[in-house]
Amino acid sequence: MSGKEYPISTEFVQQAHVTPEQYDALYAQSIRAPKQFWGEKALKFITWFKPWNEVLTGSFEKANVSWFQEGKLNAAYNCLDRHLETRANQVAILWEGDDPSEVRKLTYAELHEEVCRLGNVLKKQRIKKGDRICIYMPMIPEAVIAMLACARIGAIHSVVFGGFSADALKARIEDVDCHLVITANEGLRAGKTISLKKNVDEAIQDCPQVQRVIVVKRTENAVPWNAVRDVWYHDLMADAPKQCPAEMMDASDPLFILYTSGSTGKPKGIVHATGGYLVYAAITHYYVFDYHAGDIYWCTADIGWITGHSYTVYGPLLNGGTTVIFEGVPHYPDFSRCWDVIDKHRVTIFYTAPTAIRALRREGDAWVTRAERHSLKLLGTVGEPINPDVWEWYYNVVGEKRCPIVDTWWQTETGGAMIAPLPGAMPLKPGSAAKPFFGVVPAVVDEQGHDVPAGVMGKLVIKQPWPGMMQTIYKNRERFIDGYFKEFPGYYAAGDDARCDADNYFWIVGRNDDVLKVSGHRLGSGELESALLHHAAISEAAVVGVPHAVKGESLYAFVVTKADVGISEQLKKELIQQVRRLIGPIATLEYIQWTDGLPKTRSGKIMRRLLRKIANNDLKELGDVSTLADPQVVDNLIKNRIDLRDV
Ligand code: WTA
Repeated sequence: MSGKEYPISTEFVQQAHVTPEQYDALYAQSIRAPKQFWGEKALKFITWFKPWNEVLTGSFEKANVSWFQEGKLNAAYNCLDRHLETRANQVAILWEGDDPSEVRKLTYAELHEEVCRLGNVLKKQRIKKGDRICIYMPMIPEAVIAMLACARIGAIHSVVFGGFSADALKARIEDVDCHLVITANEGLRAGKTISLKKNVDEAIQDCPQVQRVIVVKRTENAVPWNAVRDVWYHDLMADAPKQCPAEMMDASDPLFILYTSGSTGKPKGIVHATGGYLVYAAITHYYVFDYHAGDIYWCTADIGWITGHSYTVYGPLLNGGTTVIFEGVPHYPDFSRCWDVIDKHRVTIFYTAPTAIRALRREGDAWVTRAERHSLKLLGTVGEPINPDVWEWYYNVVGEKRCPIVDTWWQTETGGAMIAPLPGAMPLKPGSAAKPFFGVVPAVVDEQGHDVPAGVMGKLVIKQPWPGMMQTIYKNRERFIDGYFKEFPGYYAAGDDARCDADNYFWIVGRNDDVLKVSGHRLGSGELESALLHHAAISEAAVVGVPHAVKGESLYAFVVTKADVGISEQLKKELIQQVRRLIGPIATLEYIQWTDGLPKTRSGKIMRRLLRKIANNDLKELGDVSTLADPQVVDNLIKNRIDLRDV
């Protein structure tokens, strides 16, 4: 259980920020005296307009933790202005288009100017501090400019992944209640266009509060236009002034709201506060990736996800780095794309998701070895557990045994990496996210909240506050408290199962609630089920995850049709289409099993745990079925289960 160990090369250790001894000492100090530790780090990593009164107040018990109270700062100022003296001409954004012939570079000076101009544009649109702005964009520099322009004037950005459908976008626009949306006419992925503007039009049809849509022209294709509401980005930018003061923000002012899936109900708007989030994004980016000045850093995550926020945009820019913004996909024009980009831009740090690594590994080594990859120094992974054999391939073939792999465990809610092997500071174990970051106190506990012995699986909790933690759920403090602080009073419940081995290495097993990870994308059973229930023929539905060789998990749905409805292949197709339309193409059902009923407790709750076992053909121990309202249902479900395809 404690796994195979890979030491880090002496060469790497010599240049690393943290040696093993330093890690132990710094970690102990960060836990013993968190206020002192974070106070010092906050001054080192962030420029404050005015210092805080208290580093940390509140507690998990009361769910009222607050960092750097009364401290004043601005995110865009920290990402841009303070670097201008020393790195105005250094590339901040290195953009690689979907088509490899398209590259754009923006220096810190240029990025600063664009952000200031857009800040002024937004102000002219009467956007004020505290207003929310929805950003629905492809991976182009303007997406980052939009985020930073919001931050500069104190508006709260809410980025919606460009792969979400019009309906999903609408739900987020409504919840966040914004008056302005920034989008592009179209996106480009693998040579195909994505109709972003059309989706926005559809989404805001019944949202009268959206009065303005700013549209970046990414392609030459015409899109429908509402002359009263829609404006071109470049028209507004043309005469916008270059000076735009950075708004003085309180550490507790929200920087952004990012929607993510929970196990039940609608996606929740995770709110991150300016002060703590920025400190944590900067420091984790610096240590976890062993970031040094001059590194060319590439995180493949879309800005629509938390990884894109913390490690494509904020972390690297806070540290004055060069961040690669990649519009395309790893398989276009061919399976060498990532490795070609690495050679072309001399990328030193590469951070991606296990699903991408699995997909590339499947195509064979030749696509990798065709490229040199000499510049690579460090590799990273995030979003789901990485299978040890996939880890070994990443390590041996991609990194040629030279590059440490940082397997980083964290969540939208945590703001930044929480458990990860600090490179240079500890040996690596394939499949383990290793040890906690400074100030983070994870533990594995049983149902009663007691620590379990080494090697025993339990629930992952965090025992002390850390600066990157979410502030609340937008407009829903109750869900915030119930979802994270109720199960184990005094602790933050992560929703993951894990083990901790005798060397204190953490092994994350997966979610213990009804959150699913499909190709690294987070989806909730509840939202998938309500998408199914929208169909007139359906009376009940339950969705669970089953293993998939590339996607990690895929979706298995149990569906009950209404009494007078016949089942058919056509209906199956309609259901698949419907879920894609209501959520997005990432939510594609892989299996649909028809059933007459679902297993429910006597109080009427669907027993997804049981359904997961049935879908996975894991029938040996079905657990306690004594609370079932109708045990016969289970026999029928087992009899009609669908064999999982070999993928
Ligand atoms: C999972 C992504 C294993 C976990 C940053 C978590 C991981 C959820 C890892 C959060 C990892 C993330 N090993 N599992 N290294 N990283 N997870 O909010 O289940 O999209 O709770 O944030 O992803 O997903 P989210």
